[in-house]
Amino acid sequence: MSTAEWIRHRLKETVREVYVPSGDALPAIPAGGLNRKDLVRLDANENLLFPPPLLSAVLREVVDEVDVRTYPRLEEEGLNEAIADYLNFPTTQIVVSNGSDPLIESCVKAFLRGDEEAISISPTFAMYKIITRNHGFNYVEVPLKEDFSLNVDVFLSEVKANTVLCFLNSPNNPTGNQFPLADVKKIIEAFNGFVVIDEAYVDFAPYSVLDLIKKSENLIVLRTFSKAFGLAGLRIGYSLSNSEVTDALKRVQLPFNVNKVSLTTARKILEHRDVIADVVSLVKSERGKLFRRMAKISGVTPFNSDANFILFKTEKDPEKIYHGLQKKGVLVRRFKSILERGEFLRVTVGLPKMNASFTDSLKELCEE
Ligand SMILES: Cc1ncc(COP(=O)(O)O)c(C=O)c1O
Repeated sequence: MSTAEWIRHRLKETVREVYVPSGDALPAIPAGGLNRKDLVRLDANENLLFPPPLLSAVLREVVDEVDVRTYPRLEEEGLNEAIADYLNFPTTQIVVSNGSDPLIESCVKAFLRGDEEAISISPTFAMYKIITRNHGFNYVEVPLKEDFSLNVDVFLSEVKANTVLCFLNSPNNPTGNQFPLADVKKIIEAFNGFVVIDEAYVDFAPYSVLDLIKKSENLIVLRTFSKAFGLAGLRIGYSLSNSEVTDALKRVQLPFNVNKVSLTTARKILEHRDVIADVVSLVKSERGKLFRRMAKISGVTPFNSDANFILFKTEKDPEKIYHGLQKKGVLVRRFKSILERGEFLRVTVGLPKMNASFTDSLKELCEE
């Protein structure tokens, strides 16, 4: 076999599951039609309500302050201290990373061995499954009930002696709901392994499980600056856990994994607590308005959300609605099958103008 053939053969063998971002939909938009910058992108749960002038001002300060010739050393500690102060949580029990996705991977690397497996719910955030499987471990999915609630007893009955890692998303993407605290507590208490609660959207929701870390040694909470804090492009996430678990997560990280610009920007953003609180309230009030407008459209069923997005079902073929929205320049996310209930769509809460373009287009498509 020639080297070229061997390489081709080898790469075919190692084909992995990949996360397909919703941007894959872009080529379907007719050429010569819409300009990319005019697209109403409500497909990735970003936070476009975070005020750009503040972000620009902070980034300008950071550019003047940061010496990019040297590796980030003190900056990571600086962000840890700012998060600790913001959440009233011990500085030494925080791990920052290049987004929260790499922390999902750190959990798999740090906690799973041999024939052990991970468990989660379905539907939920795709990366738990993708990362677990790509590391060669089995991943068990327990379906939610029809109303998207958690069936705690069924969930726990699927836990085996080798089920060592559990992922729960609170609120859950893509359904948008946060499970009752009592259900989540029951899982944390009964599960004989590591429980990761991914709180990417927690700022828009009624509660956090952060306080449970003190007494639940097995609990790891993941957070991100990509949602409420408007910094998806800078890639910063972090974990919160007890000291031993924190050390284990740090051991599997690569050195200097977050750059100085991101670390310093995130630290400075946390100084603007009034703005963060205002943005979160604005997202919640826009979410309410968007929900009410969607509910009035004939043939559209939106589902209650504790996050910055809304899952919805359409009586008319969702695939046609999805492509129809795309042709009008409005991008949403598509879920081809949820709980054998067919196809659903998910829309991010955007700027009022974007939300209006979305509901106007949806109304036209659903009621025409
Ligand atoms: C539930 C959930 N967790 C984690 C992430 C990843 O966030 P990050 O940008 O911090 O990697 C996302 C992104 O959409 C998400 O929906």
